Order: sequence, then C-alpha cells, then structure tokens
Amino acid sequence: MATPPVTREPLRELKDYLKFLKDCGYTEIPVQATLSGHSGPGAPPMPMARKSKTAASQRLEEVRKELGDCTRCKLSATRKSIVFGSGNPGADLVFVGEGPGADEDEQGLPFVGRAGKKLTEIIEKGMGLDREKDTYICNIVKCRPPGNRDPEPDEIAACQPFLVKQLLAIRPRVIVALGKPAASTLLGRAVAITKERGAWQEYNGIPLMPTFHPAYLLRFYTVENRRAVHDDMKKVLNLLKK
Ligand code: URA
Repeated sequence: MATPPVTREPLRELKDYLKFLKDCGYTEIPVQATLSGHSGPGAPPMPMARKSKTAASQRLEEVRKELGDCTRCKLSATRKSIVFGSGNPGADLVFVGEGPGADEDEQGLPFVGRAGKKLTEIIEKGMGLDREKDTYICNIVKCRPPGNRDPEPDEIAACQPFLVKQLLAIRPRVIVALGKPAASTLLGRAVAITKERGAWQEYNGIPLMPTFHPAYLLRFYTVENRRAVHDDMKKVLNLLKK
C-alpha cells in the first residue's frame, strides 16, 4: 500500500491542536469538541481557515456560558464583575492583559481605566485601527485582584482554560501579550519583558508579540519605552498586512 505523503506542516498543526486541547483541560481527544465545531481526530487542526464573525461570537458565547458565575478561585469573593473581554470576536488581532482594575471591575469591561485609555490610544492613534471593530481584548484573569495586586499562580491557573478557549474561539492571526504576566502565562515560562519585547514568539501556531503593558508605559513614560511599543505595534501591523 502506498504511504500517504506526510508533510511537516500538518503534523505541526496537529501538535498545536493537541497542545490547545491539553491547555483546555482535556486529557483525551474529544470526539465532539464543543467549542470549535471540530468533530474528532480527523478534523482539521488549528490554525484553521478563518470563520465568520457570527461563528466566532457563538463560540465565545459558549465559553462565557461555561465560565458562568465563576467561583473557581478566591478572586470571586471580592469581585463585582466578571470581565470576560470585549471587541470583535472575529478580529484578527487580540490583546491580552493582566487582570481587571477598579474601573474594569465596576464596568465589567476590560481596559476602560487609565491604562485602557492608553491602550485605546495605541490602537487607534498609533496603529490606525478601530478598537471595537479591529481587535478583541481580554485578560489572563477575569476578576479583579484586590488592591490591584498581581494575580497569583492558582488564580491564573483557574482562569487559564477560559483564556485558551477564548483564543481558540476567536482564532486571531496575531496575539499581543501586554506585559510580563500575560506573556509568561501564554508562553508557559517566565518572560523577561524588557529583554524579550519586540521579538516574535508563537502561541499554539499563532504569532505572539510581547510588549510593555500600557500601565508600565504610563509609569515609565520615556521616549525609549514609547518608541519600543510603537516599533512592536509596527511589526504587528506589518504581519497583519501580509
Ligand atoms: N490592566 C489590565 O491588565 N487589564 C485591564 O483590563 C485593565 C488594566
């Protein structure tokens, strides 16, 4: 019997898909993966051809439903809102931040406070994109850490399956990780953001750009830091244009 031609790309995509499933908490290959519409091992692995915004919206809604009125970690005890994410579920570009602050907790939306205004400025003035139409924005944890402390490992771990499923639902062409916690969570290792920003990484087959968090930019408002983020976003735009 003739051996079917095996190319490296499909194997790599299959590996990425299996890693995605593992990150989602699967220990076996689901015959009917609920989120993606995959129907078993024979189905095309990630990344797939882009689907309609409606399909992505539906997939995201399923993830939101599964998250429910979450009490999986201790952040649920002090939060006002679950800040799931906002923007276009069919976007090519996803920004991932750290976690909601006081304004976000109040409004139930990500990046609406001071850092959010800076991020909007980067997206709209710096990149010439429309925040709502061209991007989707979410965080590694969906509930506010009290006093804006860093999210703790158990909180990140409890929320991670939902972040993975969000990204699986959206299937963006590019992910921007805002700051060390987001980059480290997505890449599964400690990222030295000052050294590693601006260099392309890969998240399950999706190009990932680590850059400074807008709150860091506001805190250390130097020409160098602003130029760094500008350069990083230029790389993102160039890739999106391809
Ligand atoms: N900082 C974040 O990382 N996320 C938000 O949603 C707001 C501020």
